[in-house]
Amino acid sequence: MPDVVIAPSILSADFARLGEETRAMELAGADWIHLDVMDGHFVPNITFGPGVVAALRPHTRLPLDVHLMITPVDPYIGAFADAGADVITVHAEAGPHLHRSLQTIRARGKKAGVSLNPATHESALQYVLDDIDLVLVMSVNPGFGGQTFIPSQLDKIRAIREMIGRRDIRLQVDGGVTPETAAAIVDAGADALVAGSAAFRGGGSQYAANVAALRAAA
Ligand code: DX5
Ligand code: ZN
Repeated sequence: MPDVVIAPSILSADFARLGEETRAMELAGADWIHLDVMDGHFVPNITFGPGVVAALRPHTRLPLDVHLMITPVDPYIGAFADAGADVITVHAEAGPHLHRSLQTIRARGKKAGVSLNPATHESALQYVLDDIDLVLVMSVNPGFGGQTFIPSQLDKIRAIREMIGRRDIRLQVDGGVTPETAAAIVDAGADALVAGSAAFRGGGSQYAANVAALRAAA
């Protein structure tokens, strides 16, 4: 894996052509494919469920990085694991049993991630640091692509990098990541970048340039 993982979010892809879009992003040089699952309850938008993840699985060899913005989350972890997710990230705010959710993900042999909304303090991670493979800092309020990066999250990224210490945990940032914001985000300690609009803008002919611009900025 590269020093900084680039994970395009198919939230910004053409939903009528998700298989092709995913293959195009692999050819464009993406490292992971990020899948934003929204339930219209935890976040004010609805996207797709495990059926779509399973349908995309044969279209790419890249790791499928599934970001669950749903509550309750525990009843669905098994379905996303069966669908072929490689990384399953749940929100610390999604329920009272974060530790159990993480154990469930790892018991299925998947990498476990925790996401924090912009207003959530990094201390939410303190007692699960040995149970996770990834932290996802939301740098916009989750629900929609194309929002502006919230600068206060840079301090949180720095604090989490410190907390991670020598553990083998990826620090991922999601929301408003562009070639303009990527350098500050990586400087603060991130080593995985999710990009929706910045990855998919301009259509298929631009994907390789978009991924390269993110990588160069990081
Ligand atoms: C937002 C999603 C993000 C989103 C990012 O709720 O979790 O993954 O796709 O989109 P951009 O990069 O356009 O901010
Ligand atoms: Zn996401």
